[in-house]
Parts: sequence; structure tokens; C-alpha cells
Amino acid sequence: MAEVAVGSRVLSNHPMPNTPSARSPVLLPALLLVGLLAGLFLAACDSGDGTLSAVDPGAVPLDPSYEMVVQILDRNCVPCHKGGGGAPGANRLEEEDDPDYDSCTGIRAGLAGLLQEGVKAETMPPGAWPRLTEEEKLVITRWAAGGACSPCNPCP
Ligand code: HEC
Repeated sequence: MAEVAVGSRVLSNHPMPNTPSARSPVLLPALLLVGLLAGLFLAACDSGDGTLSAVDPGAVPLDPSYEMVVQILDRNCVPCHKGGGGAPGANRLEEEDDPDYDSCTGIRAGLAGLLQEGVKAETMPPGAWPRLTEEEKLVITRWAAGGACSPCNPCP
């Protein structure tokens, strides 16, 4: 964050690019610097997607809650899978094959598919959608290993 703040200060100290004085010899290096810093910043953000061994397992609770899983599914799966065959894509799902990750019973029924397609094979989300992160996968596998407890599958 600090780099970006420095970068924008550099930029704001110089005229807007569309003003005549923008041909200042300082502007191009300043813009290059801003670009470089932005690139470094993005590269740093990207490093969250390491391999499973690169994830700090301590960052994920040993016994993740159902709510944590719901958040992951809401973001990554529910846009396409609310049951009912609405998933957009080249290969349309029949209604009875479409998992409903928007409901507790649907999540319970679709757990095997979630573990296979989302965690193991990484075929879901499909296409250009970002795959689940290693942290997200660890939340899901730990929750499943702990009995996949939820309001519709209460653990003793
Ligand atoms: C952009 C839309 C989209 C998203 C997001 C998405 N899916 Fe899918 N999913 C599809 C489509 C389309 C199919 C059917 C065709 C195929 O398999 O490619 C499918 C198929 C599946 C199937 C196979 C169902 C069957 O019986 O054949 C499972 C399981 C599945 N998705 C799980 C998930 C999970 C878990 C997530 C989130 C981690 C997810 N999907 C995210 C579109 C999506």
C-alpha cells in the first residue's frame, strides 16, 4: 500500500497528461515508476495463490464453520448453481444434475461434487472463472473432514 501512496503522490505533483506542459521530461519516468510499483503490488497480491504447502495452515481454522463454507460457495458456485439447471455455459445441465449450492440441503447433497470438481480436479468454477484458492480448499476439506456439520446436518 505504501508504494501506491508514493506513486500517486509522484503523479499528482505533475501536470495532467493532457495539458501542454505534460511534455515535461519528468513525467514519463514518473509514469513508469507508478506502473512499476503497481506491477509489484499486483504481483504481491497474487502470491496468495500458492500451492497447498505454501499456505500457512494456521491461517485456516482447524474446525472451519459452515458459515465460512457458505461464503466461499456464495462467491464461487452459487452464481451458476442454484439448482434448477440455470448454470450458463456450453454444456447445459439438466435440472436434476444441477447442484443447489444456495441451500443447506443442496450443499449437503452436492458435497461429493464440490470436493471432486472444486477441490480435487479443479474443474469448477469453469473456464475463465478463478479456481478456488488454496485457503478456500483447505476450509472446505477441513469442514468436510470434521463431519460437514451444518444446520441441516447437525453434529452431536
Ligand atoms: C460460470 C458458471 C459456473 C460456476 C461459477 C460454477 N459452475 Fe459448476 N458447472 C457449470 C456448468 C455449465 C456445468 C455443466 C457442464 C460442465 O460440466 O462443464 C457445471 C457442472 C458442475 C458439476 C457437475 C454436475 C453433474 O452432475 O454433472 C458440479 C459438481 C459442479 N459444477 C460444481 C461446482 C462447484 C463446486 C462450483 C464452485 C466451486 C461451481 N461448480 C462453479 C457452471 C459453473
